[in-house]
Amino acid sequence: MAALHVYERPPEGVAADWTMPQNWPQFTDAEHRTWDLLVERQSRALDGLACDAFLTGLDILRLSKPGIPDFAELNPRLARATGWEVVAVPGVIPNDAFFTHLSERRFPAANFLRSAESLDYSEEPDLFHDLFGHLPMLTDPVFADFLVAYGKAGVKAERCSSVDTLGRLYLHTVEFGLIQEHDALRAFGAGLLSSISETVHAVTAPDVRRIAFDLERVMQTDYLFDEFQRSYFVIESFDHLLKVTAETDFEPIYKRLRDAPLFAPGAACLGDRLVLLGV
Ligand SMILES: [Fe+2]
Repeated sequence: MAALHVYERPPEGVAADWTMPQNWPQFTDAEHRTWDLLVERQSRALDGLACDAFLTGLDILRLSKPGIPDFAELNPRLARATGWEVVAVPGVIPNDAFFTHLSERRFPAANFLRSAESLDYSEEPDLFHDLFGHLPMLTDPVFADFLVAYGKAGVKAERCSSVDTLGRLYLHTVEFGLIQEHDALRAFGAGLLSSISETVHAVTAPDVRRIAFDLERVMQTDYLFDEFQRSYFVIESFDHLLKVTAETDFEPIYKRLRDAPLFAPGAACLGDRLVLLGV
């Protein structure tokens, strides 16, 4: 089924920058119950799989409190931590608006929740993915600065038609990233942390290629939309991810990769440093 929340221009009630009022009272009792069920199931499953920054962020934002969070209550806590805020948007928004929001410390969150019948999988990023998956990491000052640097790089990538190449950095870190922590692997990507089964798969499955983060390798690696990834990239620290993103001049990389073939998901590449389970 095609994604339902994709628009060519802001629909009625949505501003030119694609933001809209969250209109918290619109959520029904059934939607609040679905949220509670999602949070309860996912929180229980993340023990030993999610990185420390994510678990600390859950506490800071009090996302386990019953009911869909009201942004009016959530934003002061997020702002105190890192100066970020979450803004409601109708669904997937254009790249230029998305990058501008990130570069100015605003995280766009889809203003709808998956149905109770599809708890395990939402074909589009929904409120649970965006709030539960992404926001806790934005309470970490270093990760928060990394996402600002990424947003600024995105604004520039738009101008030189290199969004797809840069976007693979986002996919392999912000969505599906792993980190080495406490001599083990932990998840920090929102695509993982909002999905019980893929978190377990990414961190524990034996037949997965886990590759030490290398910027150019990441930006040259394809990913899968509708199935679990076969390659995951492992960062050594958020400091390193921030440094690489903030200090790299991406344009020479875009030029080098413009006509280069992509590495298929799970494919080997000369020079890969594999991170083994139990590191
Ligand atoms: Fe996401």
